[in-house]
Amino acid sequence: MLIDTYGRVATDLRVSLTDRCNLRCTYCMPEEGLQWLAKPDLLTDDEIVRLIRIAVTDLGVTEVRFTGGEPLLRPGLVGIVERCAALTPRPRMSLTTNGIGLERTARALRDAGLDRVNVSLDTLRPDVFQAMTRRKRHADVLRGLAAAHAAGLTPVKVNAVLMPGLNDDEAPDLLAWALECGYELRFIEQMPLDAQHGWKREGMITAGDILAALRTRFTLTPEGDDERGSAPAERWLVDGGPARVGVIASVTRPFCRACDRTRLTADGQVRTCLFAREESDLRGALRSGAPDAEIARLWRLAMWGKKAGSGLDDPSFLQPDRPMSAIGG
Ligand code: GTP
Ligand code: 5AD
Ligand code: SF4
Repeated sequence: MLIDTYGRVATDLRVSLTDRCNLRCTYCMPEEGLQWLAKPDLLTDDEIVRLIRIAVTDLGVTEVRFTGGEPLLRPGLVGIVERCAALTPRPRMSLTTNGIGLERTARALRDAGLDRVNVSLDTLRPDVFQAMTRRKRHADVLRGLAAAHAAGLTPVKVNAVLMPGLNDDEAPDLLAWALECGYELRFIEQMPLDAQHGWKREGMITAGDILAALRTRFTLTPEGDDERGSAPAERWLVDGGPARVGVIASVTRPFCRACDRTRLTADGQVRTCLFAREESDLRGALRSGAPDAEIARLWRLAMWGKKAGSGLDDPSFLQPDRPMSAIGG
């Protein structure tokens, strides 16, 4: 079991498969991209599957989420999913992606055993998409979403970050569109995890702003804490339900007390939190021939050092050195 000193148990593992991405979202990375991890530093497919096996069989992990950068850029993704689906107990598996290329791989991912996907899409307008991601790929994302839905990777969730002056007028339109397509939309407050360190609390669109905008067109009823569990998203029934909309308010309504997450970076470091400033190296242990029991011990030890929360409200808050794209969201 991965328990921390506050009694929280991590059963949800987020695995970053690459730090690379084919978009350049302004709230994430600069136009020129970042210094990518070198190939020899990345965990191999075998190393990833081994760590997931240890997490699932020895450490009580029940949910595995594949993230990036952009996880569809990892050539071995389908094989990794297939091998994880064969583990006992079989973990639930999901993918968080920008949707580019999902049109081609959705069916293979489903056949390999992936349960569902979350796709990032911030706008319905191709020109705004280009301004926000610096790439002309809006149509690819829409096709990827449709393919995921058709392949049964459901519920398909859509993640949207609202940015002032770009797409902050789109909340109700995005919700109307998601309801029509059968996707579960969640709005995410922008977090200070961008590589450029450009985040400012003052400019941020808050959960309060988003809910007020949605209420101009929809009736929202809180879903209630019982259904939320450890999920980052607070959810509301839309116009009486059954459709829902979520808000992930990491900044204004932090949910750290219920956190059930542990993270693995693409270069084999355990992170206890998105905002952690320390990491614990598992790659070195793997490559020096450590047995499973030793890897499990190091992972437990890492989680014992998990802090109470993100520290976002502390005056001394410092952004982690690793940007979002190299942590895995
Ligand atoms: P499901 O609802 O189970 O599908 O997952 P999710 O919402 O946790 O996953 P997703 O990868 O779609 O992440 C949505 C947003 O939540 C992203 O912006 C993540 O960075 C953020 N997020 C995920 N886990 C955490 C966490 O532990 N803490 C904080 N503050 N944010 C998180
Ligand atoms: N703040 C909030 N969400 C972010 N994402 C990427 N960077 C940030 C940020 N700085 C979102 C992506 C994706 C999810 C994994 O995290 O849009 O949907
Ligand atoms: Fe890529 Fe995701 Fe960062 Fe956008 S937020 S640049 S899709 S890693």
